[in-house]
Amino acid sequence: MTMSAEQRINEESYTSWRQRSELEKMADLPQELDDELTKLDKEFWISGSKLKDIVKYFRKELEEGLSKDKQNIPMNITWVHSLPSGKEKGTILTLDLGGTNLRVCKVTLHGDEAAGTRKHTLEQEQYTLPQSLKTGEADSLWTFVAEKVEDFVKSKGLDQEYSSDKPMPVGFTFSYPATQGRIDHAILQTWTKGFDIKGVEGEDVAQQLRKHLEARELPVELICVINDTVGAMVASAYTDPETIIGGIFGTGCNAAYMAHTSAIKKLDANDQRITDASRHNGTAAGDEKMAINCEYGAFDNAHRILPRTKFDEQIDTESPRPGEQTFEKLSAGLYLGEIFRLVLVDLLDRGLVFPSSQTQNTTALKQPYSIDTGLLSQIEDDESPSLTQTRNLLSDILSLQPTDADIELCRRLAEIIAVRGARLCACGVAAICLNEGIQAGHVAADGSVANKHPKFKKRWASALGEVLEWRGEVDPITITSAEDGSGVGCAIIGAMELERRGMVRDG
Ligand code: GLC
Repeated sequence: MTMSAEQRINEESYTSWRQRSELEKMADLPQELDDELTKLDKEFWISGSKLKDIVKYFRKELEEGLSKDKQNIPMNITWVHSLPSGKEKGTILTLDLGGTNLRVCKVTLHGDEAAGTRKHTLEQEQYTLPQSLKTGEADSLWTFVAEKVEDFVKSKGLDQEYSSDKPMPVGFTFSYPATQGRIDHAILQTWTKGFDIKGVEGEDVAQQLRKHLEARELPVELICVINDTVGAMVASAYTDPETIIGGIFGTGCNAAYMAHTSAIKKLDANDQRITDASRHNGTAAGDEKMAINCEYGAFDNAHRILPRTKFDEQIDTESPRPGEQTFEKLSAGLYLGEIFRLVLVDLLDRGLVFPSSQTQNTTALKQPYSIDTGLLSQIEDDESPSLTQTRNLLSDILSLQPTDADIELCRRLAEIIAVRGARLCACGVAAICLNEGIQAGHVAADGSVANKHPKFKKRWASALGEVLEWRGEVDPITITSAEDGSGVGCAIIGAMELERRGMVRDG
């Protein structure tokens, strides 16, 4: 493959196998496979100029979402009016409905009375979400959640500490797109990340949960529903004033930032709540802000700019919501392993990998979503010259007997797919920064891809630099590991909401 100048600019992050010395290669690939890989490499590679084109479209869709309701990227209003001061205090129960677990935490915020660097204490329990719940009925979901809250409340003696007159405040991290008319109200727009629970879309999840909590007569009161991106931003800002964006690069892909309310055209500029909040926060007129949960996993659902391969198209067609979350399906953790699997199956079907002379058992490989994105990280992490770890993983997880060429192919493929994902992830952040005129700060990132993939941050930073045309030695916008958004972030937002309610009550 001949490399364009553009591709070469990015040599550092695009540590293409084509640039490695022969010695580092595990095996030479048979010509046919090598040609196939060259083709894949070309299809998946996104050049610097293509990134810029993507960002141009991205900026437009972000703006449309701020201007009007029901746009492709919804730019959801969250009623979080400010980042924390760092002084917030209180004890809050937080619930986080993630893709695999329900996490329940009791979070105590110490504010500026922190002992040393510890600004909070936290006790938590995790409960595995049964797979069947994700495609079941609303009632089973909320029964499960309420039952676990009851277990937690009772096991920690919180039912003794709180009463129906003085209930324990509850914050709920619900990381799906939701329309919020108020902070304690959240109408699910559409399920994402493979969830497909009937009877929730178009409904207020806060109300559904509240009903189930009330039925158990628990001394708790749901006071806020937040998105994980907003949680990550707020939790990080509690200790890091340079936080500009909260980003999740995990099962899903999304970000939140503080927008100037004047830029949110769909918001009524005279909304009393904004005026009240800014008076309370001491914000100067014209400087009022609102946290926006972009929900930019939906970027380019009209398929105008993102280069999609036949594997991406297949993932979309076979997903519970075809046509939705186009950007997320190319870049997020839920899908990277599946893209890898689909490519392998395609090569297998054409007799190019895992030769049958090795008595292969391909049942696991043929099973949809049998490859977790973590496998790609582990493969890229394998630095042993003979790639023993990769060989063992392919045999343990997929019961495959790879040849040296198969292993080499897997390594290159894992890289091709992860590089594209990381470069795309930079586009959303670049678009926000360009639209908002943000020139420096920290993107507080959470999620398995950001935190577990060995090369994600470096590739992401390099792509961001290409789009924003950084020339200096030091990157002005850097990615940091977010503090616990769904626990601590949610609790801080809960504490801010209690303060606001106190203010409204007091006059
Ligand atoms: C999906 C959800 C979004 C969430 C993201 C990361 O994109 O729709 O709400 O923030 O995943 O978890």
